[in-house]
Amino acid sequence: MKEYILAIDQGTTSSRAMLFDCLGNVVDSEQQEFPQYYPKDGWVEHTPEELLASVMSTCRKLMSKQNIQAGQIKSLGITNQRETTIVWDKTTGNPIYNAIVWQDRRTSQYCQELSEHGHGNMVAEKTGLLLDPYFSATKLKWILDNVEGARDKAQAGELVFGTVDTFLLWHLTDGQSHFTDATNASRTMLFNIHEQCWDDELLELFNIPKSLLPVVLDSSADFGVTSTQMLGFDIPIQGIAGDQHAALFGQACFEKGSVKSTYGTGCFVMVNTGDTVFTSTNKLLSTVAYRIDGEVTYALEGSIFVAGAVIQWLRDGLELISNASDSERLAMEANQDHGVTLIPAFTGLGAPFWDPDARGAILGLTRDTGIKEIVNAALQSVCYQTKDLLTAMEKDGIEICTIKVDGGMTNNEWLLQYLSDCLQVEVEQPKSAETTALGVAFLAGLKAGIFESVTHIQSLWQSTAKFQPKISNELASEHYQRWINAINRIRTTS
Ligand code: G3P
Repeated sequence: MKEYILAIDQGTTSSRAMLFDCLGNVVDSEQQEFPQYYPKDGWVEHTPEELLASVMSTCRKLMSKQNIQAGQIKSLGITNQRETTIVWDKTTGNPIYNAIVWQDRRTSQYCQELSEHGHGNMVAEKTGLLLDPYFSATKLKWILDNVEGARDKAQAGELVFGTVDTFLLWHLTDGQSHFTDATNASRTMLFNIHEQCWDDELLELFNIPKSLLPVVLDSSADFGVTSTQMLGFDIPIQGIAGDQHAALFGQACFEKGSVKSTYGTGCFVMVNTGDTVFTSTNKLLSTVAYRIDGEVTYALEGSIFVAGAVIQWLRDGLELISNASDSERLAMEANQDHGVTLIPAFTGLGAPFWDPDARGAILGLTRDTGIKEIVNAALQSVCYQTKDLLTAMEKDGIEICTIKVDGGMTNNEWLLQYLSDCLQVEVEQPKSAETTALGVAFLAGLKAGIFESVTHIQSLWQSTAKFQPKISNELASEHYQRWINAINRIRTTS
């Protein structure tokens, strides 16, 4: 009887269940999109029940397609969109409000006030994060302050909070496990990344009762066992990591200085900084890369809010393309000297600008600009935003020669070549673009004893293609300067 690892990848726009063999090869997968809700400008919500339903349905379909029998799945890992905030009733498991998604900017004014009152340094020093609505703390406070009766119930110990991993874990274990892992905790803005614990001073600042919070475990740990009624079998849940951290692990970026860039809904560049917290002076984030056997590896991260989402917008919002995969052909066919700059700042700008009130723009339109040029400019925007992050990392003294890329968009070779041209570095593509799911499968498999060590995992990682810059440094700088000029026109902060 074959043995497998099941990985749940609960992302911003879709949920995925992936089955891996014990060498980390993909056996099969199922994916399902779910609705996005935009109740007001800058607000983004999900229904927690729809997240859970999409996870359950993808897992069940996958297991039935593969005719999985009891005992065949040795371990389960959960990786997830990070920061997204859910509060639910401890007794019923029912959420008291929609999930407030990481992209949501409703607490931007409150973050601004905290900054003006001089709290920024303390927050950054303890959490590695910047005072921005992106993170969970202000979203959690918003729910407690705005949902009728929530604060009283929270004080009475009737509610619990979790990021998406915790919510799924709670339901998969039928309310038995209220845990998260150190990577997800490190994105809440309530977790002290140096001391690896919830921080009382931060809880006081954001007025969050400690009783709401999950227990924080290693990323490779015993998180509980799935209840039979949820997935049909008792499966040990042994890996949890935020999706970007899982991708770093799945890319085998175990050495200090190794870098990955993931192109999902957003784009997230992470560099492994070893066993010490690296503090950026260029508005990048310090975060927990992974925690194994109580030992913490840290990373420096640059976060961009819109990458794949711009293609989704061209498809669903503007209806310029019918499939995301059309973007590669159209970008190739475009007049390459189009001079159009598209800035997809739909929910503000992330790193290194941190401008929640900025909004997107399309500049440089001429009479002969067509759909192809707009699509081309949308893909270029993803590359320029990556360049913004690498520039900030370089200013921080981090030298980057190669980046490993992954995520759905990396099936687009035009994008990868332009990325290499724009960054003027080598871009390396792994055998599987789904390194997020693979990463958490590795973490779960590590705890289950399927993989002996990180060195064993390193030996399983394979690259499939490398892209080298094909345009000159001068031309790359000229293109990038046009982007910077455009960015300066939409910024609301300096
Ligand atoms: O921080 C947000 C991030 O975790 C979302 O990732 O893959 O859904 O774009 P993704």
